[in-house]
Amino acid sequence: MRAIDWFQSDQGGLGYISLIDQTLLPDALTTLQIRTVDELIECIQRLAVRGAPALGVAGAMGVALAAQNGNTVTARADALRLRVSRPTAVNLAWGVDQALEALERGTQAVLTVALSIRDQDVIGSHAMAKRGYELLADLLPEKMASGLNLLTICNTGALAAVERGTALGVIEEVFLRGNLKNVFACETRPLFQGARLTAWELSNMGAPHQTIVDSAANFLMAQGRVDAVLVGADRITANGDTANKIGTFSLALGAQFAGIPFIVVAPETTIDCETATGDLIDIEDRGTEEVVVINGKVMSPAGTTSVNPAFDVTPARLISAIVTDQRAIRPALNELPSDEVANEMTA
Ligand code: MRU
Repeated sequence: MRAIDWFQSDQGGLGYISLIDQTLLPDALTTLQIRTVDELIECIQRLAVRGAPALGVAGAMGVALAAQNGNTVTARADALRLRVSRPTAVNLAWGVDQALEALERGTQAVLTVALSIRDQDVIGSHAMAKRGYELLADLLPEKMASGLNLLTICNTGALAAVERGTALGVIEEVFLRGNLKNVFACETRPLFQGARLTAWELSNMGAPHQTIVDSAANFLMAQGRVDAVLVGADRITANGDTANKIGTFSLALGAQFAGIPFIVVAPETTIDCETATGDLIDIEDRGTEEVVVINGKVMSPAGTTSVNPAFDVTPARLISAIVTDQRAIRPALNELPSDEVANEMTA
């Protein structure tokens, strides 16, 4: 079952988005049928569907919903509301924009674009997994032979995409080829995407893993218990600065201290060359409640407020490599995302 997909219903030829409600995992595997842009926006904002590549697909499929439900004027207005429903992952706006370009040609044309973005995401995920594996083999040949200890944050697997995902796709490849010793999955406060979703995906794979509190990660690295850190990305700017789940920047500092590779895995669609540097990225703040309320229990005295940035920005100089579906960029060697694409797609 895919985290997000499109189905054609028999009623009047209208279609709908099917998505896994990720807020209910790992307790329940439930799918939702989404037929309007308002329903989709609600799902995006409460993180029923999440992760940069999945949001790109959701954005494009959302324009297809808008097109089939209205005329081009109402569809464009709906699409523009959808485009800004979460600000940090560039994929959402990108997916909406791609689909909007087809709006004047009709619903079927929009849907064709959306389905192509979905299919490209699958191809891209497989290409990243292979390229990421090859990079690790290159950087860590001896560790690869004895089994890698990898550390990751948030959820970057099939749930965050259409299939396989980004950083967790690479980890899956390492596991499938027999080179994985263990995965440390940061729990990822405040919404526990690591403890809930990544641990669920790794369990389903049968891959060895342990969930850790976020603040244990740098200590484990300093103890020499981690060979490499692999993370996803929500937006990579022209100079290589990378926005990803809050906590990622600390991991990059920990990796530098420990002298181990810090690798970002993301499709080319996550690269935003229109934005020069990371300090220009709009970082979503998700408010107080997510931080002070855990499982319905209020943890802080009444009136306590929180700063709750959902993402942070890792400076390019801390990133050993950015692995995309088309190339491996080495910011630490002065290569930039804005440089011309060097390699051909190898999927
Ligand atoms: O707030 P979320 O759960 O949407 O955040 C997701 C992340 O930060 C992921 O690491 C990122 O989108 C890459 S997903 C392949």
